[in-house]
Amino acid sequence: MQIVTPVAAMQRLAGKWRRAGARIGLVPTMGYLHAGHLSLVQRARQAVGARGKVVVSIYVNPTQFAPTEDLARYPRDLKRDLKLCRAAGVDVVFTPGDAGMYPGRVTGGYSTYVVEEKLGRMMEGAARPAHFRGVTTVVAKLFNLVLPDVAVFGQKDFQQAAVVRRMVADLNFPVKIIVAPTLRQPDGLALSSRNKYLNPGQRGQAVILFCALQAAKKTVAKKSVSAARLKQQLQKMITAAPLARLDYLEFFDPQTLEPVSKVTPGVHMALAVYVGKTRLIDNAEL
Ligand code: PAJ
Repeated sequence: MQIVTPVAAMQRLAGKWRRAGARIGLVPTMGYLHAGHLSLVQRARQAVGARGKVVVSIYVNPTQFAPTEDLARYPRDLKRDLKLCRAAGVDVVFTPGDAGMYPGRVTGGYSTYVVEEKLGRMMEGAARPAHFRGVTTVVAKLFNLVLPDVAVFGQKDFQQAAVVRRMVADLNFPVKIIVAPTLRQPDGLALSSRNKYLNPGQRGQAVILFCALQAAKKTVAKKSVSAARLKQQLQKMITAAPLARLDYLEFFDPQTLEPVSKVTPGVHMALAVYVGKTRLIDNAEL
């Protein structure tokens, strides 16, 4: 397994692979890897085959964090990440730095961003205004540096995957986007690097996101209900966990991400909940 840090070296290597006819699969991450990330690596391997190249990028992208958010304390453990990638059969771990990715950003010498203007406005986009601009910008840059045939994203970040898909279609990136299912703990909590922030009491109550999704599924399986009514019911359920505070909860069309007023099977639900100071998100098709 190779570890590549300079952006020019990554782009050269990817170009060489391409000329040799190798298929390239990319799994973009911010590191602190868990089994969910590794499931994306397996999916990328499956897509490019044994002779293809699988690249995992590890980069805590500053442009997708607001100044008030957890950029500085985002968990990092590169040594452990590299070990996991090696064991998972990754070909290259791409670990660019800020100087390579955003030369001059702090001093005013970087000024180009990629903005998706529709799917990224609601939910995470409403709660975190500059977030998706940072995501689309860094993903576009990673595509230009790694030249992937396929890139794998997690359904855990459903809206992110939708925004990236739209960017790829709108800007004609020759990249196939694969969205892989959410891996969970045995009690249902979605794996996330941010789960590390939870103390044992908070960890216990963090399962409330999954419980809310399950409760919604159960209700909708019996009969269609009004979104407002179901939201009220789930809000009450979340409030019953004293360490949890609901940020948003939406029912929406999985294609357009537009909110629906009637919740029927096939409608998608997403929610963000603060557990203590940690903000967790989850989603599912109902
Ligand atoms: P990060 O949070 O590290 O997630 C990297 C990828 O792993 C994303 O596609 C995410 O949806 C997926 N993932 C996270 N938890 C998962 C789980 N429990 N099961 C399956 N997949 C899971 O998302 C980002 O980084 C960044 O925004 C990035 C796309 C790298 C751009 O900076």
